[in-house]
Amino acid sequence: MNEFEIFLDIQQGLPRQGPGDRESTLRALSLVSLPAESGAILDVGCGPGMQTVELAKATGLRITALDFHRPFLEQLGALARSAGVEDRIQIVHGSMFEMDFPEKSFDIIWAEGSIYIAGFEKALGDWKRFLRDGAFLAATHITWFDENPPEEIRDFWEAEYPEITTIEGNLGIIERSGYRIKGHFPLPDPSWWDDYYAPLEAKLPASREKYKDVPEAQGVIGAIEREIEMHRNYSAYYGYVFYVMQKP
Ligand SMILES: C[S@@+](CC[C@H](N)C(=O)[O-])C[C@H]1O[C@@H](n2cnc3c(N)ncnc32)[C@H](O)[C@@H]1O
Repeated sequence: MNEFEIFLDIQQGLPRQGPGDRESTLRALSLVSLPAESGAILDVGCGPGMQTVELAKATGLRITALDFHRPFLEQLGALARSAGVEDRIQIVHGSMFEMDFPEKSFDIIWAEGSIYIAGFEKALGDWKRFLRDGAFLAATHITWFDENPPEEIRDFWEAEYPEITTIEGNLGIIERSGYRIKGHFPLPDPSWWDDYYAPLEAKLPASREKYKDVPEAQGVIGAIEREIEMHRNYSAYYGYVFYVMQKP
């Protein structure tokens, strides 16, 4: 197992794979004008799909949910079945870098905690072709709340995601990319903990034991602990912001 496979194994089974919560998903959805019943949503990097199922329940629309990690998609399948929305969710195992959907085939693109993987600005450019005219893109993205954060957290995020910028910086990227801004709001702090960091942190002692003879795994666990510690110490300086925009 390489480090990334170990990381995915430790993350397996969590309710979410990144910060988020039901109320924030629905709040972002309220900034979108819903299409007719035949409309379609693309959920990129859907993970275990908590937001996918919320979107299915709230909109009644068809959703294509794409992720490259099969076990997360199996988790989504089970969640969708238990919510009775599996008929409207098409699960696609694939990479966000190789999406070949027809042009202008979606009314909404949704990306919670996943747009950083493609890069915010690049994704806004690359994914636009899949949106119909007047369609929406909603994404959560890591953002500075303070443009002068302490050195330790600045160094941490500049190593993890060098493009990190402020709300104003991201709004500038959205406008430069040719979208209309429909709204934005920060995720509340519990959305980092309740379904993500708290259950992840609870798994770490057992993961340390499981991988006690695998030095790479100890490094992966150390990096997860550091990320959680950074959030505990510096959440006033950064967080996730939901950005909702419209293709003209
Ligand atoms: C931070 S998680 C967010 C998952 C989910 N949206 C949520 O909020 O719980 C990022 C997700 O992107 C997926 N991912 C990473 N790289 C990907 C790629 N190249 N193509 C598709 N999915 C990818 C991961 O498997 C993971 O499920």
